[in-house]
Amino acid sequence: MSIKEQLTWAEKQLKESCQRPRFEAELLLAHHLNKERTYLHAFDDREVEHSELFRMMVARRANHEPYEYIVGSASFYDIHLDVEFGVLIPRPETEILIDLVAEIIEKEELTSIAEIGVGSGAISIVLARKFPKIDIIATDISYMPIRVARRNIENFHLEDRVTVIKSNLLDEVTANIELVVSNPPYIANSFKLEKNVAEYEPKEALFGGETGDELLKQIVLDVKARGIKYLACEMGYDQKEPMIQFFGEIGIEFYTFYEDLAGFDRGFLVEFNILKEGEKQ
Ligand SMILES: C[S@@+](CC[C@H](N)C(=O)[O-])C[C@H]1O[C@@H](n2cnc3c(N)ncnc32)[C@H](O)[C@@H]1O
Repeated sequence: MSIKEQLTWAEKQLKESCQRPRFEAELLLAHHLNKERTYLHAFDDREVEHSELFRMMVARRANHEPYEYIVGSASFYDIHLDVEFGVLIPRPETEILIDLVAEIIEKEELTSIAEIGVGSGAISIVLARKFPKIDIIATDISYMPIRVARRNIENFHLEDRVTVIKSNLLDEVTANIELVVSNPPYIANSFKLEKNVAEYEPKEALFGGETGDELLKQIVLDVKARGIKYLACEMGYDQKEPMIQFFGEIGIEFYTFYEDLAGFDRGFLVEFNILKEGEKQ
């Protein structure tokens, strides 16, 4: 079958599962042929070799498997990252968190930061590429993200400056850290996710506990207890009020929230009031 015929077939298969079936069919075929999408239009009468492999990819996508897992790669910020089962596909909203953290790093000339929940390595890799002088320690509790993040870090030759360790939150981090960034699991356990997320993405990357904000609050407490000055976290759209209340309860004064591009509350920045030696509260 020709490119044109394969695309017509694939579009039909993807009608139920994809919002843009034609576009996704083209993405998958372009990936299969290792060509740009424009090639498909220019040479649509050419035969597709090994079409059974293309059809298997279409069947996976028709079954709601995310495109990124099928092709093993996700585009994020200005890079492409390897992704596979067991590792969260980085989301565009997390790019906002990076820009906010970048502003603090630049302004305060920070050189030592930590990330909690490294996943594919998305946040740490983009930050390390932006700031050649920073060192990052990134933690994750699961084996798969650690493996994939290390591979991505090596692909960008950042292994001298980005170290990934297995740790619950910051428990195993011994270095002096100036800022912690995290996109932790923050979804409530009972929240019904769409099939493409619920059935394919790792639960430990998504669910934060019964109310969802348990891990976020623990991160705030840990960073405060360690005397680290800055914390930047992504959070759920409905977690601003509980976090404000929590900040009040534990005496945090300096914080701001930010929104994503759709106008939903999406995260917060905290500047802890660190007392220098000799200062009185
Ligand atoms: C929402 S994903 C974020 C991945 C990546 N940073 C990103 O933004 O795409 C959360 C990550 O936190 C990890 N994680 C969950 N609980 C953790 C814990 N207690 N300590 C460290 N990492 C944890 C998960 O395994 C997952 O990789």
